[in-house]
Amino acid sequence: MKKKKNKIMPFTFKIDFTNRTLSNPDSHIIRKLSSMKGQYLDQSIYNGMLKKEDTVLYEVYEKLAPEIEGELIQGLSIVHPGKVGREYFMTKGHFHSVLETAELYFCLKGQGYMIMETPEGDWSAEELVPYTALYVPGRWAHRSINVGSEDLLMLFVYPAHAGHNYVTIETKGFRKLIVEENSNPKLIDNPRWKGKNEFKTSQ
Ligand code: F6R
Ligand code: MN
Repeated sequence: MKKKKNKIMPFTFKIDFTNRTLSNPDSHIIRKLSSMKGQYLDQSIYNGMLKKEDTVLYEVYEKLAPEIEGELIQGLSIVHPGKVGREYFMTKGHFHSVLETAELYFCLKGQGYMIMETPEGDWSAEELVPYTALYVPGRWAHRSINVGSEDLLMLFVYPAHAGHNYVTIETKGFRKLIVEENSNPKLIDNPRWKGKNEFKTSQ
């Protein structure tokens, strides 16, 4: 659970690669298969997997800061390896509530992609391998996808006042998907993506 920070002092933190965590995290978010309803193409495989087990898809540890302009929140995201049909384990994905706020990711371990898009219809897919830094500009929704066979570990930093808008992606998904084809990741159009530019501002 997130707990708000009101006052902050300079600090350092360490990434523990063995235990896949941060030193003294302020929050630990665990997202399971059940939180991805409607996001995977093959609904029957999704439902079948969910019936058997509500598998943990990814985890996020954060070091919090006051949620005001000027401060930064940083943390570690760990997307576990696995697939739902031809699609890989991935994050829910979101726009920032303050749309014009950017984010920096730094890939530490594993193999993945970041799928991104703007309300205006631009999109981008960037490959993530260790020591790759990825800049997600303001206005770009982002979702990380683990296309490898080990955990995908990334450090991230974003403005503390950004907030998260999940509802647009929950409703419409992303325009592009990454699926496995002949044992390789392949970018495809999301066949269920309809309409355009219906960006929702309510969270
Ligand atoms: C913060 C951010 C990441 C994600 C994390 C989990 O703005 O982009 O820390 O929160 O990768 O993804 P979501 O939040 O989409 O479940
Ligand atoms: Mn973000």
